[in-house]
Amino acid sequence: MTFQTLDDLDDGQRVLVRLDLNSPVEDGEVQDNRRFERHAETISELVDRGFEVAVMAHQGRPGRDDFVSLSQHADILAEHIDHPVAFVDETYGPQAIHDIAGLESGDVLVLENTRMCDDELPEEDPEVKSQTEFVQTLKDEFDAYVNDAYSAAHRSHASLVGFPLVMDAYAGRVMETEYEANTAIAEKEFDGQVTMVVGGTKATDVIDVMTHLDEKVDDFLLGGIAGELFLRAAGHPVGYDIDDANLYDEQWEKNSEKIESMLEDHRDQISLAVDLAYEDDGSRAEQAVDDIEEKTVSYLDVGSETVMEYSPIIRDSEAVFVKGALGMFEDERFSVGTAGVLEAIAETDCFSVVGGGDTSRAIEMYGMEEEEFGHVSIAGGAYIRALTGAELIGVEVLSR
Ligand code: 3PG
Repeated sequence: MTFQTLDDLDDGQRVLVRLDLNSPVEDGEVQDNRRFERHAETISELVDRGFEVAVMAHQGRPGRDDFVSLSQHADILAEHIDHPVAFVDETYGPQAIHDIAGLESGDVLVLENTRMCDDELPEEDPEVKSQTEFVQTLKDEFDAYVNDAYSAAHRSHASLVGFPLVMDAYAGRVMETEYEANTAIAEKEFDGQVTMVVGGTKATDVIDVMTHLDEKVDDFLLGGIAGELFLRAAGHPVGYDIDDANLYDEQWEKNSEKIESMLEDHRDQISLAVDLAYEDDGSRAEQAVDDIEEKTVSYLDVGSETVMEYSPIIRDSEAVFVKGALGMFEDERFSVGTAGVLEAIAETDCFSVVGGGDTSRAIEMYGMEEEEFGHVSIAGGAYIRALTGAELIGVEVLSR
């Protein structure tokens, strides 16, 4: 797929830029994160090249606690680019149009949360979105549209798919690099072993990724809740709910046949945990999977023996992709699996992409350097979709 990039855009124009600044919000406070750092590179380039920049982005969804204004995002972005960033509490109302008209070369203005506009959210065809009042009002204020929001490109929302149909459209730097890294597993040919670490909480994501990539990946290293469900399919008495959390049984009912046939058809390619970790009296304890006769505790990580088995496989790989965590790494006691495989990747001279939910957060939490990895993706849902070969509508319209 090809799209125009910032290299194809003449300096000094009026540009409408879509970023993905969707962030964790704690007690109403927006948390700084890797997305700001990445998008800051695109915005800084536009500032340096004398563009007049208006930024669109979303935060949360109506009805959720994280559905807040973008005013804090503007301040955080300003810190990252070390340059003033203005904010207007409208997306395309009269005040927004007034502030956009007042932009001068090098100015940056953040518009209010796109999801506060009625036209933004329902997923509809790009053609329909392009005719909304939102798109039709803003399009005349700018010379070009830049989409940098790869991580939101799986959503057919007005700010992502409407503008490219009615304006000159370009990919921002983040869009370019994320697209390249996240499609590498499908597009690139690797001479040596390709390994994928698959964990996290959603069995359907894991199965979809494994089904799509079974011919590309030599070794799948499993962990997390999905890994425990695979152990259940292999006949071990784990992967059950023992409390009301309902993490396993419902997923098992929906996916057991697929998990069982995946395990049967690809047993040689799938590595399962040989031990699991749990909390005992406030400390981490481990148990060999073969010794488990009945599940009486919640397993929160793969065990150290498993990490010892997974690490050499990673070290022998030419490419390693990470989708999801192997345990509850936010709690240091249960970070051994996730941090262990990440450390093995960091020490190995291989092509690597780390993504999937919050997994990449473990990199800084446990003192590793981002530079030690080929690419650390800021995409969650879009990364999973890319791994399953699904088309991202926001990328597709950019290339039209
Ligand atoms: C993300 O945070 O993964 C994207 O911004 C998409 O957000 P959404 O899942 O709320 O649509």
